[in-house]
Amino acid sequence: MKIHGSKYLTSLCSGLLLIASGAQSALAADVQELFEPCSVCHGKEGASTESNMPIIGGMSAPYLTDAMLAYKEKDWPCHEIEIPSGPDKGKKTDMCTIADDLSEKEIEQISEYLAAKPFVRATQEFDAGLAAKGEQVHDASCKKCHDEGGSLPDDDSGILAGQWMPYIKQSFEDFGSGDRPMPKKMKPKFNKLEDADKEALIHYYASVK
Ligand code: HEC
Ligand code: HEC
Repeated sequence: MKIHGSKYLTSLCSGLLLIASGAQSALAADVQELFEPCSVCHGKEGASTESNMPIIGGMSAPYLTDAMLAYKEKDWPCHEIEIPSGPDKGKKTDMCTIADDLSEKEIEQISEYLAAKPFVRATQEFDAGLAAKGEQVHDASCKKCHDEGGSLPDDDSGILAGQWMPYIKQSFEDFGSGDRPMPKKMKPKFNKLEDADKEALIHYYASVK
């Protein structure tokens, strides 16, 4: 009786373990599948190699989730985007439509997946003189929330260091026009910037090594 019981327990336990590990790898496979259509634009594991598509791998999960929910709610601008390759090449879409097709649960899963990947900085040309000026502007007005050149995911403020310059430029335009809302305490700092400061910042973020 004793022996029978322990055998039963052993097989029950290993059975449960099998189910648990099976569920985990099924989840991992699901997330990969969920991210597949994103990688057409954002690259493998979110490390975009296209200068007009932001790098998103390695940003924090809370930031990514908030971003996707903001697109879902159309709180962030829904710029028209052309699919650059694959079977749907040339078709138009936008981040609001893409986010709206996902459930909140799926958004959280994709965000966790991306947060575990490295942020692979873009290789791009920048002007060293402008970058030096940009560093001063950054340290005076932006560093508090975008520490270490805007390279820390845990600031939950996106990642600026090594992001593609055209994306930073577009974000500045969206903030400036009011199409993308700014955190309350970022707004007064940002609105004080001259156009030349913004240009210098873009070169600075590209220069961070
Ligand atoms: C057709 C190309 C394309 C596809 C597909 C696409 N994106 Fe995007 N995504 C962009 C572009 C371009 C931007 C920059 C903002 C804009 O232009 O609207 C962006 C912005 C983002 C941002 C904000 C980045 C930041 O720094 O705040 C996140 C997060 C994001 N996308 C996640 C995703 C996820 C997750 C998917 C798949 C479910 C996806 N995207 C599919 C092109 C795409
Ligand atoms: C009080 C904190 C704070 C300050 C100061 C601040 N930011 Fe931000 N910033 C944030 C947060 C939080 C986010 C992400 C949430 C959002 O976009 O609504 C963000 C987002 C951004 C983004 C978009 C990142 C992306 O991936 O889309 C850019 C670009 C940016 N900030 C630039 C600046 C610049 C330039 C300055 C200085 C002039 C600055 N910020 C000052 C908190 C701040």
